[in-house]
Amino acid sequence: MRPIIIAGNWKMNGTIAETETLLQGLLEAGAPSSNATMIVCPPFTALYRASQLLEGSHIALGAQDMSQHEKGAYTGEVSAEMLLTVSVRYVILGHSERRQYHAESDQLVNAKAKAALSAGLIPIICIGETLTEREEGRTEEVVAGQLEGSLAGLTADQLKKSILAYEPVWAIGTGKTATPDMAQAVHKFLRSRLAGIDKEAATLIPILYGGSVKPGNAGDLLGQPDIDGALVGGASLKAADFCGIVNAV
Ligand code: 13P
Repeated sequence: MRPIIIAGNWKMNGTIAETETLLQGLLEAGAPSSNATMIVCPPFTALYRASQLLEGSHIALGAQDMSQHEKGAYTGEVSAEMLLTVSVRYVILGHSERRQYHAESDQLVNAKAKAALSAGLIPIICIGETLTEREEGRTEEVVAGQLEGSLAGLTADQLKKSILAYEPVWAIGTGKTATPDMAQAVHKFLRSRLAGIDKEAATLIPILYGGSVKPGNAGDLLGQPDIDGALVGGASLKAADFCGIVNAV
């Protein structure tokens, strides 16, 4: 059985005051009725405060990115070790906004994934096609390339600890969600490609869907056999909406 994971990617939202309000709202709502794992990924500057508020709670902490380097002269970067010191357990890597605005390649995402896993963090590796790529009928080719490039050289043990997120770029922040059938088709395809790398890992790796997930569509998406959770952007910024998604599991 794969775990069900609902992760909130706050993106560049969340001052300390906003983080306190949002986390208090999530904590007051109590543990989910399902056995879903809840993760929040605030910006770097809010992680320490978030770690204090979430200590001993049912909500785990994730970061939105990290450096592939251990330490040194990398201005502006944050290392895995630094994240571990503020109780971070998960790290989103290769989000399409990083790929698009910071030119992150599969090779870089792969280096970051290796650094995260070596340090004991669980990477949530994001892949997904653009609208043009989908319209050109290239979805499978694109996501297979991203999957294989981002996971290249991971050991079977490292693969089994990783999480994958399929986020079609055209569905992110647009209000356009992939239909459950469309998302399931890609998730099933990704699992078959994972099986080509390691059969056992393919059955164990949770594949999350991301792209305009809301309380109203989460149930149908999460009901698909190969959709093991959600990576939520906008709706993770409101406690009621995020809890609504968690309770749709
Ligand atoms: P939205 O839920 O706002 O579409 O964002 C999805 C996303 O990018 C999560 O990483």
